Amino acid sequence: MFPEIGALGGYSGICLARGFDRAGKLTSLELVESYAKLANSNLAKAGFADQVSYLIGPALQSLEQLVSDNRQFDFFFIDADKENYENYLNYCIRLAENGALIVCDNVLANGSVADESAEPKRHTEFMKKFNETVANHPHLESMLIPIGDGLTISKVKK
Ligand SMILES: C[S@@+](CC[C@H](N)C(=O)[O-])C[C@H]1O[C@@H](n2cnc3c(N)ncnc32)[C@H](O)[C@@H]1O
Repeated sequence: MFPEIGALGGYSGICLARGFDRAGKLTSLELVESYAKLANSNLAKAGFADQVSYLIGPALQSLEQLVSDNRQFDFFFIDADKENYENYLNYCIRLAENGALIVCDNVLANGSVADESAEPKRHTEFMKKFNETVANHPHLESMLIPIGDGLTISKVKK
């Protein structure tokens, strides 16, 4: 059971769904209804119509709902508004089974977390702080993979 935070057109949803078997289920959290509909239609075209569901609205509210429903998951993909990454991370840890993986996208902020000359500098300070939090978190064992815009893969230790 995999939550993804940030669906947009369904590209990452399809990549995730291709990685699980017919029993896998993706729960995708998306703020904008039209994006959720577009992602849903693309997942359906890719053959995953019965394996994805959407929670539409601010992801923090949807995550709170998942906590209230006592849901537990073994994989998370965080790729929405960067300002909330730390909040999303904390919710994912609460919702994680022991040993679950949390993957976060765009953690290099276009390289600007390490290279002062890199442009544009969007989200640089948020991502610097987020990367420090992940690296020092007592319940995470993490690795930052410098491909694309940077991905962090964290294993949850409860
Ligand atoms: C970078 S895009 C996601 C791309 C997608 N994961 C992919 O790789 O195909 C970010 C998405 O997060 C959504 N988003 C932004 N703020 C959000 C929020 N507060 N709650 C839920 N989704 C949000 C945006 O509407 C957008 O669709």
